[in-house]
Amino acid sequence: MSYAIVGFGAIGQALARAFARKNIKVAVASRRPPEALAPQAQAIGPTVVAKSLRDALEADTIILAVPFGEHREVAKALPSWKGKTVIDAMNALVPLEELDGLLSSAFVAKAFTGAKLVKGFNHLIAAKLAADPIVEGGHRVIFLSGDDEDATAPVAALAKQLGFAPVKLGKLNEGGALVHARGRVWGQLIFQDLFKKEQ
Ligand SMILES: NC(=O)c1ccc[n+]([C@@H]2O[C@H](COP(=O)([O-])OP(=O)(O)OC[C@H]3O[C@@H](n4cnc5c(N)ncnc54)[C@H](OP(=O)(O)O)[C@@H]3O)[C@@H](O)[C@H]2O)c1
Repeated sequence: MSYAIVGFGAIGQALARAFARKNIKVAVASRRPPEALAPQAQAIGPTVVAKSLRDALEADTIILAVPFGEHREVAKALPSWKGKTVIDAMNALVPLEELDGLLSSAFVAKAFTGAKLVKGFNHLIAAKLAADPIVEGGHRVIFLSGDDEDATAPVAALAKQLGFAPVKLGKLNEGGALVHARGRVWGQLIFQDLFKKEQ
């Protein structure tokens, strides 16, 4: 598996720290050129490699850590998303009418035609996500949801590899609804910083 994080702000860097902690290679990209991101990437760790957006999108698993409204711009960067897994770490702080009545990840999935979409890593504030997920002998919980179990299972394995305890909530519009932000309405599991003693 190869990984990229698109968006290198608070959440992108928090996730990069998680990869660096476990020595897992990850590309990071934003609208800025790689040279602009490289010093911060290197400061996080040697496995965090700044790339152009185009090069980063060669990864098979891509984490979206851009402001919600920017996801369409990212989607346009590839002619086809077939074969890719997209992890949606975004929260939609946009008026409900802009989502066509859908949960935000279902709306995002429409832009990434052909990709398998998993929602995850969106329910914690950046500082919590950046911190060591092993706390008092427990593992910080990451909620995952998606309509494609073939994609959710490897993302759960990644979360585990990063030291988190993945909890699968099922399909986006079932358990997944608990981790969706729409407008200023937060799903009941957002900001719930939970730990699991056994993985
Ligand atoms: N902050 C939190 O605590 C938190 C918690 C949970 C979820 N989230 C969600 O995570 C996402 C990111 O939030 P954040 O706080 O990390 O935001 P942020 O600090 O503003 O970072 C956003 C990043 O996205 C990049 N970006 C913007 N437009 C882009 C585009 N079209 N293509 C590529 N890169 C682009 C920006 O870099 P350039 O300007 O260089 O392009 C920047 O690195 C949001 O959807 C937010 O709802 C945030």
